[in-house]
Amino acid sequence: MTTNIDIARADGVQSIRFARPEKKNALIPAMYTAMVEAITAGEADPEVGVHLFLGSSNVFTAGNDISDFAARAMSGSSVLEGPVLDFLRLLPRIEKPLVAAVDGLAIGIGTTLLMHCDLVYASPAARLQTPFLDLGLVPEAGSSLLGPRIMGHARAFELLVLGEAFDAERARQAGLINAIIRADALEETAMEAARRLAMKPREALLASRKLMRGNPAELSAAIEAEAVLFAQRLASKEARTAFAAFFARKG
Ligand code: COA
Repeated sequence: MTTNIDIARADGVQSIRFARPEKKNALIPAMYTAMVEAITAGEADPEVGVHLFLGSSNVFTAGNDISDFAARAMSGSSVLEGPVLDFLRLLPRIEKPLVAAVDGLAIGIGTTLLMHCDLVYASPAARLQTPFLDLGLVPEAGSSLLGPRIMGHARAFELLVLGEAFDAERARQAGLINAIIRADALEETAMEAARRLAMKPREALLASRKLMRGNPAELSAAIEAEAVLFAQRLASKEARTAFAAFFARKG
């Protein structure tokens, strides 16, 4: 059975590929579980030096699956308990570098995940967007802390609250991505950078990353605070109305 996450390992790099193209790689719980398992295994495996996130079919990911949001909102349970929160809680605890190659859409967690990455390469078609507010929700994955830290409050507010889409050039200027790379060379560029990192002296690599990423406890606290509000917002009328509108849009 497919988990819609393809894992491959080569040359010290563990690639984690979103593979649900019929739904624009929208993330369902089994995909978060597969990522948690792969990252946890990779963290413990000396053969793995770097984790690399990839999309498929010219899409990085359309974010969390809205049916999953809607189902959990209707059931009254918190969407962030379970695999989603397990994944978010893991992010500040990852020690090995994270690299991403972004082609096309990176929505919601597709964008906020990039704030945890150490190197991000994007194609000219990359489009980063976080429509949290329009869904009646709040920013997640520590983005309320990392967003302003990376790009300053004003730009972070524009992305995370106004919901403005950033194209590749805007994302580069904002410091969210390192470089814009032709789509046909994107994955190889990201893979090559990941391989170079994986070949560095490992202890020095992990120590340097730890120094540069800041206090993980502060990030974990932001993720927990966001999760409480996010769960409350999911149950709100604003959110339910937005989810219903998404599914009614083609009707
Ligand atoms: N959750 C659930 N399904 C999603 C999805 C998501 N986040 N994103 C895309 N899909 C599904 C669509 O429902 C559609 O399914 P269908 O063919 O069974 O109807 C399929 O993926 C293709 O998407 P579609 O909307 O037809 O493609 P598009 O090119 O017109 O638009 C998007 C693509 C991503 C702009 C649009 O689907 C969208 O806005 N998705 C929601 C993004 C979002 O708000 N994510 C949550 C962030 S917190």
